[in-house]
Amino acid sequence: MSERHLVLGATGRIGSLVVRELSDRGLAVAGLVRDAQRAAPMWPSEVMPVIGEFDAPASIVSAMQGVDVAFISSPVHPEMAAWQCHAVQAAADAGVRRIVKLSGSAWTMVEGRMTTVGAAHAQVEATMRAVQKSGGPECICIRPNAFLQGILGRIGTELSNGDTFSLGIGPARVAFADIRDIAAACAHAMAARSTPQTIEVTGPEALGGEEIAGLLVQMLGKPIRYKPLDISEAMARARAGGADDFTLRHQTEVLTVLREGVGEKVSPDFQSVLGRAPRTVQSYLAEVISKVGGTC
Ligand SMILES: NC(=O)c1ccc[n+]([C@@H]2O[C@H](COP(=O)([O-])OP(=O)(O)OC[C@H]3O[C@@H](n4cnc5c(N)ncnc54)[C@H](OP(=O)(O)O)[C@@H]3O)[C@@H](O)[C@H]2O)c1
Repeated sequence: MSERHLVLGATGRIGSLVVRELSDRGLAVAGLVRDAQRAAPMWPSEVMPVIGEFDAPASIVSAMQGVDVAFISSPVHPEMAAWQCHAVQAAADAGVRRIVKLSGSAWTMVEGRMTTVGAAHAQVEATMRAVQKSGGPECICIRPNAFLQGILGRIGTELSNGDTFSLGIGPARVAFADIRDIAAACAHAMAARSTPQTIEVTGPEALGGEEIAGLLVQMLGKPIRYKPLDISEAMARARAGGADDFTLRHQTEVLTVLREGVGEKVSPDFQSVLGRAPRTVQSYLAEVISKVGGTC
């Protein structure tokens, strides 16, 4: 009988792509959802919705029954560690064979200088190590660098409206990770016969705002300006976009350390595990430009 894969956070940026990757591999996939109607258009029709909610722990216990491989992801939230530790324990109690967790960026979990969310991820990773050590599921952590489509997500709109784009990373370089590569690493870790216990996903090179502007000048054949935002400007923009207080605090902590250059490191893990190079910022920019077309 084919193994059953369950994805938590299955309508999220990474989770929805993991669902698709697993389904494309012909694997049996179920996605935990709060609202099956919202999920339906995001997934291939053969993916099974399982109704559940992190705030209802019994629903997570029930969702894990009969599952062989579980993927755990949840949003940045004050309860993230409690939600995910419960999901790990529920998976172990249900006899799940392997758990793959979408974790934090490695640099948010450095002993002595963890961010708030990095500390929550570290707590979940410690719970995973403990259940594995006591004979429970094999546990694998995917540690992505800053999401390319997160920090550079507004660039298309900004270039449609002018010749300037702005980022909150100051002059720092970041080896941005494309969300499709992160999802590919997660799906691979779920489906492969064997895999390293930790996979760091980064882009193939670290780029800063000025270098990204240089790429855009070449691609568009016109002057493009990078405007570094200070953190308060970046947070004002995030607040206007609807970010709550916890998210704003998280983003402030992340930008503060990113501006020190912690996101520059390029990891060889993606190439060695997936057997291909990770996507480049340039290829992402080419997609953005082709979507906004002649307006930029
Ligand atoms: N952004 C970055 O640069 C970055 C870098 C490294 C690591 N990360 C980590 O990535 C994770 C976030 O991934 P993402 O951006 O893919 O997440 P996301 O897009 O925010 O998706 C969150 C998912 O969790 C579900 N969810 C929310 N509240 C729930 C609840 N109470 N019960 C059940 N499901 C619930 C959402 O479902 P609904 O559709 O029902 O809302 C959605 O499917 C975080 O742990 C973050 O620390 C992010």
